[in-house]
Amino acid sequence: MNINKVMVIGAGQMGSGIAQVCAMAGYHVTLHDLKQEFVDRGISTITRNLSRQVEKGRISEEEMATTLGRITQSIDLQHASEVDLVIEAAIENMEIKTKLFSQLDEITPQNTILATNTSSLPITEIAAATKRPEKVIGMHFMNPVPVMKLVEIIRGLATAEEVYKVIEDMTKTLKKVPVEVNDFPGFVSNRILMPMINEAIYTLYEGVATKEAIDEVMKLGMNHPMGTLTLADFIGLDTCLYIMETLHEGFGDDKYRPCPLLRKYVKAGWLGKKSGRGFYTYE
Ligand code: CAA
Repeated sequence: MNINKVMVIGAGQMGSGIAQVCAMAGYHVTLHDLKQEFVDRGISTITRNLSRQVEKGRISEEEMATTLGRITQSIDLQHASEVDLVIEAAIENMEIKTKLFSQLDEITPQNTILATNTSSLPITEIAAATKRPEKVIGMHFMNPVPVMKLVEIIRGLATAEEVYKVIEDMTKTLKKVPVEVNDFPGFVSNRILMPMINEAIYTLYEGVATKEAIDEVMKLGMNHPMGTLTLADFIGLDTCLYIMETLHEGFGDDKYRPCPLLRKYVKAGWLGKKSGRGFYTYE
C-alpha cells in the first residue's frame, strides 16, 4: 500500500488545510468539492497561506509554485478512481458521509484507503456503508491544519492493522504527530474539549461573568492560546452544537446536554467567525 495520490473531499477550512499539507509533503492532491466556486475558495486560501510562508522566507517562490502545481482541482467524484487515499472533509452529516463512502467504495480501486476527518461521528458506522470496512479509518486534523501538530488516528472496529500503520506513517510524512484513538463518540479531543466549551457557554448563560472575563480567565489562568468562547467562535458554533449532540446521544449522559444559549445562537445564525457573529463580532 503505497500512497502517492490523495483526494481531499471538501475544500473548506479543514479540507483546504489538509490539501495544503499533503501537497507540501510531496503528494499529488486532487481537491474536490461540489461546486467550482468552493474549490476556487480553497485554492485561494492555500495560495494565501503559502504566500505568507514565502514572505517570511520559510519557502521559496519555486517551492510555492511546485506545491500549487501538485494540486489538481475536481468537481467530479470519478477522479477518485485514480487515488491511493481519500481524505473526506465534507460536512458533518452522517447521511451525507455514508452516501459519499458508498459511492467512493464503487469508484476507487480495491486498495484505496478511505479516511474521514470527522470530528465525532462513528468511524465504524461510516465504514459499514462500504464493502471494505478494513480500509476505512479516521484522520482527525485540528484547525488551523497547517499549524496544529496533532492528527487523531481513529480505528474503526474493522480497521486493518496494515491500514492503521500506513496512515500513521503517512501522517508523520506530513510533519504531524499521529495519536492512536479508539472509536467512541468525540474520540479524545472533542470528548474533552467540547464539554469545556459547553461549560464556558453555561458560565456566560448563568451570568457568572462576561464573555471577556471568561476568556481572560482561560487565557491568563490556564495559558490557553485563545479564550474558550473565542475558540468556540473560531471552530463554529454549529459544529460545537453538532458535536455536543453527538456526545449527548452517544453516551446518553446529561452532562453532555448542549447549553440552551448555544442552541439559541445557532438558531439565530450566529455561527461564529465564519458568519461574522458569534459570541463576538467579526468583520
Ligand atoms: N491558517 C494557517 N496558518 C495560520 C492560521 C490559519 N488559519 N492562523 C494562524 N496561522 C499561523 C500564523 O500565520 C502564524 O504563523 P507563524 O508562526 O509562522 O508566523 C501562527 O499561526 C501564529 O499565528 P498568530 O501569531 O496570528 O496568532 P496566535 O499566536 O494566536 O496563533 C492559533 C493562532 C495557532 C490559531 C492559536 O491561537 C491557537 O493555537 N489557538 C487554538 C487552536 C485550537 O485549539 N485548535 C483546535 C480547535 S478544535 C479542532 O480543530 C477539532 C475539532 O474537531 C473541532
